[in-house]
Order: sequence, then structure tokens, then C-alpha cells
Amino acid sequence: MHVIFDTLIDSFIENKIGIAQHFLSESLALHLTENLVFLYRDNQLKSAGIGEHTVLKINNLSRGDKIHWLDRKNNNIHENTFFDLMDDFVLYLNANCYTGIKSYEFHYTLYEKGSFYIKHLDQFRNNDSRKFSMIFYLNLDWVASDGGELCIHFGNKKINISPNSGKTVFFQSNELEHEVLLTNKARMSITGWLKG
Ligand code: OGA
Ligand code: NI
Repeated sequence: MHVIFDTLIDSFIENKIGIAQHFLSESLALHLTENLVFLYRDNQLKSAGIGEHTVLKINNLSRGDKIHWLDRKNNNIHENTFFDLMDDFVLYLNANCYTGIKSYEFHYTLYEKGSFYIKHLDQFRNNDSRKFSMIFYLNLDWVASDGGELCIHFGNKKINISPNSGKTVFFQSNELEHEVLLTNKARMSITGWLKG
């Protein structure tokens, strides 16, 4: 467990964007993907940015994802396994990096074909509680022509990260501007924030 935590943290320290493969076990990733597909088919995913982030006037023109929050109250065994893992990770991070994380929030995310999320920071101007962003990609067999890369902006430089299943990214929420490029296929993930 701690080996995979270290992989993500070391890569974050070195590159400002941490990337690790198989932070979630393959079976957990698969179960969470099944949950997400079920929620989508059952019409339980809601357009993000409506209600939640009205202060920023985020709307469908800037952000096309549909979301559903994970919650221990859902009594879903796989969500709970995910939260157990995140509890361990937060303990490890606080003990080793003095990060002072006190809580977190995560949602299932689906970008339908043709959607995207324009360049932004994950920390809001009027609320700095989000310290770290974490995204767990859930897309098997993603190929370059599917698009939908996470594009990270470092000043004038950009790097594109494909949303392949098994990949987790981790970065500081107030530091890295990023965008989700137009996807040519439904694009799934779990997205969340560790909060101070
Ligand atoms: C976000 C976001 C990136 C991604 O939800 O704030 O930037 O790759 N997501 O899904
Ligand atoms: Ni973001």
C-alpha cells in the first residue's frame, strides 16, 4: 500500500503532477466503473457546475461533465473500499508530508462525447479549502484518437495526459491550471479533492 502512495507522492514532488498506475486495484477500478455506468444509465448523474459553483458562473459552456457524489451513506461496498483507501492515503500524507488534510470529497464523473472543461484552477477564489486534486481514470482501451486528454499548463508549456484506466493523477489545487480536451467518446473518472 505505502509503496503506491510513495510512487504518487514522489512523482508529485518531482514534477508537480503526480502520476501513478494502479493506485486503485484493478478490481476496485472495475467495480467503481460498473457503479458509474449504472448511475449514468439510471439517469442519476447531474450536470456539474449547476448549483454547486454558481458563484463562479461555471455553466455548460465551460464544463460538460456529469457527476454524482460518492458517500459512505450510499452503503456501497466498493465506495466504502475506496474511502478506506483514501483514509489510509490521507493519514500517510499527513504523517509524512505534514499536509494537514482534514476531509475530502469525490464524485463520479462522466464526460459525454463532444464535451470538455475549459482551462481552470480547482481552487475557488472565495474558498481555499481544496488543497489537492486527485483524479482516477476509468477508461479501458483508450486510444489517442479518443481525445479527452487532461491538459496541464505550466506557464507556456503544456502536457497532455490520456485518461486511461489504472492511472491516477495528483496535483496542488491552487497551483496547476488545467483543462479537459474535447472527448470523442464517453470519458469516465472519479474526481476529488483533499481539503484543509
Ligand atoms: C476537474 C478536472 C480533470 C480530468 O474536474 O476539475 O479538471 O482529467 N478534471 O477529469
Ligand atoms: Ni479541474
